[in-house]
Parts: sequence; C-alpha cells; structure tokens
Amino acid sequence: MCGIVGYVGPRRDDRAQQVVMEGLARLEYRGYDSAGIALVADGEVATRKAAGKLANLRAALENAPLPPSAAGIGHTRWATHGGPTDANAHPHRGGTDGRLALIHNGIIENFHSLKTELLADGVEFTSETDTEVAAHLVARAYEQTGDLTEAMRAVVNRLEGAFTLLAVHADAPQTVVGARRNSPLVVGLGDGENFLGSDVAAFIGYTKQAMEMGQDQIATITPTSVEVIGFDGQPAQGARFEVTWDAAAAEKGGYATFMEKEINEQPHAVGDTLLGRTDSAGALVLDEVRISEDELRAVDRIVIVACGTASYAGMVAKYAIEHWTRIQCEVELAHEFRYRDPVIGANTLVVSISQSGETMDTLMAVKHARELGAKTVSICNTHGATIPRESDAVLYTHAGPEIAVASTKAFLAQITACYVLGLYLAQLRGGTHADEAQAVMRELAQVPEKIETLLGQMDRVKEIAYFMADTRSVLFLGRHVGYPIAMEGALKLKELAYIHAEGFAAGELKHGPIALIEPGQPVFIVVPGPDTPHGLHHKVVSNIQEIRARGARTLVIAEEGDEDVVPFADEVIRIPATPPLLAPLLSVVPLQVFALELATAKGLDVDQPRNLAKSVTVE
Ligand code: F6R
Repeated sequence: MCGIVGYVGPRRDDRAQQVVMEGLARLEYRGYDSAGIALVADGEVATRKAAGKLANLRAALENAPLPPSAAGIGHTRWATHGGPTDANAHPHRGGTDGRLALIHNGIIENFHSLKTELLADGVEFTSETDTEVAAHLVARAYEQTGDLTEAMRAVVNRLEGAFTLLAVHADAPQTVVGARRNSPLVVGLGDGENFLGSDVAAFIGYTKQAMEMGQDQIATITPTSVEVIGFDGQPAQGARFEVTWDAAAAEKGGYATFMEKEINEQPHAVGDTLLGRTDSAGALVLDEVRISEDELRAVDRIVIVACGTASYAGMVAKYAIEHWTRIQCEVELAHEFRYRDPVIGANTLVVSISQSGETMDTLMAVKHARELGAKTVSICNTHGATIPRESDAVLYTHAGPEIAVASTKAFLAQITACYVLGLYLAQLRGGTHADEAQAVMRELAQVPEKIETLLGQMDRVKEIAYFMADTRSVLFLGRHVGYPIAMEGALKLKELAYIHAEGFAAGELKHGPIALIEPGQPVFIVVPGPDTPHGLHHKVVSNIQEIRARGARTLVIAEEGDEDVVPFADEVIRIPATPPLLAPLLSVVPLQVFALELATAKGLDVDQPRNLAKSVTVE
C-alpha cells in the first residue's frame, strides 16, 4: 500500500533528501495519492507534504527547500483513513512544537479509542488519519523517556492492527527508528550510512546488502549501527541477504512504461523461475522447504489461496496440479477463505500465491490455515516478504521487481512456479505422471523462446487496440486453462482502461451470458489447441459460431496452424503451438498487450491506474 523510506548518513548535506526522494520515486508504485518527507536539521524537524503524485512534492521542495540534514524519512500514500489531501499526507507531527515526525503503512484498528484518550488530554489533531494518533503517542512517550526506541516500543504494544512505523525526532539528528507488525520493513546496510524501506527498491540505488526484519520488531539505525529488538524489549537478529537485482532492473530501461518493459521481460521471468529446479540426478528441488517428504506424500488436498491476478494463476495451476498429482485441488480467494470456516486438516497443503508477499488478505488466509493445522507453501516474488516468512515452505518466482501496478510477468512466473510445485509433488508421490515430470520440464524450458517469438508478432494486436479506443465493453471467453486466462484478460482491461470487461467460461455462455451479445460486441475467445483432450477445441469453435451468428465481433486467439477458427473469426491472433497445459503462458500475452495499448490510446497512466496500489497491505 504505502511506500516508506528512511535514511541516516554521516554528514549534514543534501544526501538525506536525495536518498529519500529517490526511494520514494522507486516506491511510488505502492501508493500515489500523496507524498511527504521529514528531515532532521538545526534542532528541529522540517517537513514538506503534497497531495497527488510525487511530482507535486518535488515542486513543493523547489518552492520551499529543506535545510541540509543527515537523517530523513519519506512516505508515498494510498489513503485509508482520510482522503488524499495535503493535511492527511504523511509525515505527521507530534509533541511540543511538533518535534517528532512519523510515517505509517497499514491500519491502526484501535485508533478511535486512542484518539478519544488523546483528545480528552487536550491533544489537537490536524488530520483525519489513524497515523496521527501514533505520532502523538510516540512523541508523548519520548517526552517521558528521552529515548526514541523505548518510546516506539511503549506505543507499538498499545496498537492493534497492521503497521510499519518510522519516526525521527529533533533531539536525535542521526537516528531513525522503525517498527513493524504484519506490514513490511527491510533494513538496507550501507557503508557509513543505513536505510529502512518498505522493500529493497527503496535503497537499491545505494546498497544491495539488506536485512529482513521479523514480526513485531523495532530497528534503530544510525550511520554506523543497526540495532534490532522485539516488541518485548529483547535483543533480536535480522537475517541478512544480498539483493540479486540492481537499480537498472527497477528502471524503465528505454521502454515508455514499466508495464511494457515487464511484458517484454516475460521470457526471462519464466526462464529464471525454471532455473536450478533439478538436482544432478534430474530430480526436482524446491527453494526452502520445511515440510518433510513424508508429510508431502500424505497430502490429500491442496487449497490455493490468492487474490486478483495471482488467483487466476492458481486457477490455471489447478488443472495441471490435479492432472499430474491426482490430488484434489481447490482455488479460493484468500479473503473468502479466511472468513468462511474452511474445512482444513493436517493433510491439507495450503499454497498461497502472491507477487508482493504482503497482500494482507492472503497473509491472513495463510495464518488461519496454519492455525487449523495445514502445511503452507508460499509462491512469492519478493525475497524476505511476510507471507514466505509465515509459511512452512517457499518457492520463489524469479520474475525480478514488478513495478507496474498491473501484474504481468509475475503472473507467468506464478503459473510456472505452480507447475514446478505440481511436478515436484507428482515425482514425490510416484505414479503415472511422475515419469512425465522431466518431459514436462523440458517442454516448459521451450516456453521462454515461444513467448519471445509471440512478443515479436504483436503489431496487429496493437492496431486492434488503437481502433477500439472508444469501445465501452469487451467480453472474454475461454475454456479449460483458457477460462482463467479470459478472466485475467478482462481484469487487465478493467484496471488499465476503465472499461467494462467480463471473462466467462465458454461452456457457460448459453446459460446466460450469450444474452449480452448484440451486433458489434467485441469478444475475445481463447481457443484450446487442437490437441486438447475431450474435443474441447471443437466445442469452443462451436461457441465462436454461436456468438458470430448473433453479431459478435470475434477476436480469436488460436494456435499456429489451427485453420478451423478462420471462417468464424473477424481477427485471428496466433500463438505458437504448445502442449495444452502450457498454453496459458502464451495466450495471456496478447491480452496483456491489448489492455496496455488500449489504455495508452485513451491517454491513461498504465503504470499507476486510478484507485489502485501495487501491494494491498490492508484487509
Ligand atoms: C492485477 C493485480 C492484482 C494482484 C493482487 C494480488 O493486475 O496485480 O490483482 O494480483 O492484488 O497481489 P499479490 O500477488 O502481490 O498478492
């Protein structure tokens, strides 16, 4: 949701402002409805805040420059409590003369009772946020203890909900204190300077050395030290790691938008997610598995929990996992799973899928599954994020940083990782499909090149998108693994181009949705390859005929060489031939490009669509 950055360095100069502003630019994808910065200098804390995108804060800083400083914090916001105004933007001040500044990601659930207490004590509020409550509380605790870390500790133990908090105080010109519960915070370890960030993108331009913070921990950073304690006051240790990508990976690299860049990175996202998955004997291996092979062999049910695009990756994976493992597999939206009293046992494997590893709905589902005794596996793209830490096993997708709010390359990497997991389980359990695992891995290894070829053939899709810039509604049909791809195509169009779009199972058409078809209605149809079992190819070709007969404009995604679709298609978009279960890794690509181009034709910001944020860290 919000992006958070903190910095302390050795000198009072303009570096603190530069680091914080650069960090905010890299974190802006997390929230972009307002931004703010606080620097400690000359025995006081100076802040600037502005509603709107980061450019507004930059302008505010040009109009009223901040003094040189050695420590600062910055925040880019996705509003929860209080609208996106200057007053509600972070940092918030607390204490006598506002000598403390504090920023926050998450939601303080008991803020109302705390605010009532502060109001009764005569504290004046200047915003509608829950954050300001924390700012006043930490400032008051500091006035009693004179120690910012202890003040933070006293307050976090009173807060309920999910939060990352960062604070600076005028009395401590070279200290930043950060705390986290159910919300992300990583430490960047520099040479004579240190950093805090919502994720490593905040400081990747300065250091690749990082440290994960555990749940309920507080970090106090100075230029030469990083001290971590638990909310209970006991010393704690963070796990150090080296970031495997560099600053260039978080830049546009010559593309007009991050989304375009990330679509073009998909061959690597799939290829890198497949790397290193087999041992010298050819057997599949996973990243970090703290579940015994016996326990995995005993699994009798798999439940995939995820949200949005990640849930569609899970829906695709269900077809493959059930086919290869013969284990019953269900897919459920994480927020529905958590609150419906699900039946879960010790032999249930709950697989969460999350690009960010922070999605609160998914995190809560994973925690609930563990409470109910299930084993949990996290498929995640972000090293050290909360969900993998809370899971029994992790399979990382190696898609690299995904900055555009709409997920593309992470989706392909998620499907790939789910397939690796399915094949691993099949191998472990033996049976008919165990022997096939290596053959499927070889077929998967060919997919990156096929995506590359496909990306080189997108000119017509771009033209169609430009011609359709005024379209008000687009439908998407698919069957088998093409069904979740139809849903994903519709989601991409909704979130980027703000037009009505719906994905349907092609077989469901005649049970209602066909009534929507009127002359000129554009419909994308994801056609299963001619080799798909059970004659599904022909059934979908019949569906195309049915809607064409009712005037639909049919935009057909079909395999090279599939001539059956030609008579009924207004447009045929070709994808390279591939085994049916792997086809989603290709068929989604034209739909991503279509949404990107149509939104661009409408003049919309594809990297930061309205009302959205990259990681949704509130329920
Ligand atoms: C859509 C999109 C979202 C995310 C969803 C889950 O393009 O990006 O639907 O897929 O919010 O996010 P993660 O994967 O971070 O848990």
